Amino acid sequence: MTAPVTMRQIAERARVSIGTVSHVINGTATVRPKLRERVLDAIRSMGYQPSALAQGLRKHRTNMLGMVIPDITNPFFPGVVRGVEDVAYKRSFRVILCNADNDPSKEASYVRELRSYQIAGLLIIPAAGADIAGHLRAYASASVPVVCIDRVPDGWKGDAVLVANAEGAYLATKHLIQMGHRRLAVIAGPLKLTNAAERLKGFTRALNEARVEIEPEFVQEACFDTESGYQAALRLLGMLPRPTAIFACNDLMAFGVLQAARELGLRCPEDLSIAGFDSLEFTQFTDPSLTSVYQPGYQLGATAARLLLQRVDGLRSAPKKVLLPTELKKRNSVGPPHVAGPESVGGTMRKGKHSGRRRR
Ligand code: RIB
Repeated sequence: MTAPVTMRQIAERARVSIGTVSHVINGTATVRPKLRERVLDAIRSMGYQPSALAQGLRKHRTNMLGMVIPDITNPFFPGVVRGVEDVAYKRSFRVILCNADNDPSKEASYVRELRSYQIAGLLIIPAAGADIAGHLRAYASASVPVVCIDRVPDGWKGDAVLVANAEGAYLATKHLIQMGHRRLAVIAGPLKLTNAAERLKGFTRALNEARVEIEPEFVQEACFDTESGYQAALRLLGMLPRPTAIFACNDLMAFGVLQAARELGLRCPEDLSIAGFDSLEFTQFTDPSLTSVYQPGYQLGATAARLLLQRVDGLRSAPKKVLLPTELKKRNSVGPPHVAGPESVGGTMRKGKHSGRRRR
């Protein structure tokens, strides 16, 4: 490996001082055109690449943005990162991406460490159960802007870009009710997360408005992943009479419900209607295609990055809370409930491997 070209070597080749090279690179003083040309020639011919880290150390700020996400394996988050990266790239900022793995202590270490990289700003989608607001306030004290995306931690009063979670959940539930469902269950995300709590509120509001009873056992909390959605669905579908429709508060959990229904020999939507939240791109290709609440992941990221860069540029207004709209995408996983015997309102179980359990 060849050693990187240094400013000293550029100065020697161009027969100028290191100070002159530095002025040309950083634009900190006017340099005579003849000397400037010699420096630029030397830079070009020797392939000099200024060290962003060294520049950052001098200016106490790099052109890097930190971004912490809770789960890189969840297909919703790459779209958000893409939105951030596109905006940052156009402004010559680079993104350091950290995956917290839904682990609050890993998240806290990333947030603490990123500051030592002299990042220009931080974007974060907080993990469930994380007590991160204090760490984020430390950024504010150091004048490093922070924007929360998709969820906000407890006690966060700063900038945030979110979606209309309650409204989206309300629309999905209303659609299920309009289809004729009265035995509706919900699989909520971790209720410590603001967006999970909002979605549950939307579900409850739709049921209350339609005067449909909310069965406490039909409200299950899970972890926004397929496995916990699957386990919650097994619990729900083992109750008798069981729900005729399940609203899963994200698509991964909805896939878990589909899987459980399949194993129990229940047809979707004939025996069980399923709706999700996110409307991931491939939900139109599942069998059946999934009715789901679309949320604009890319726009979430892009909007948050634009706001962060405005702060980096010196915007000093009161904290902003931007709310992006959601939209219900009606597909084939929702249909009217089957009218059947009292034990199995919504269909009879076929040769599934799990048997029904009477609900107390
Ligand atoms: O699928 C991941 C979920 O967690 C999404 O619904 C998103 O809003 C996030 O918080």
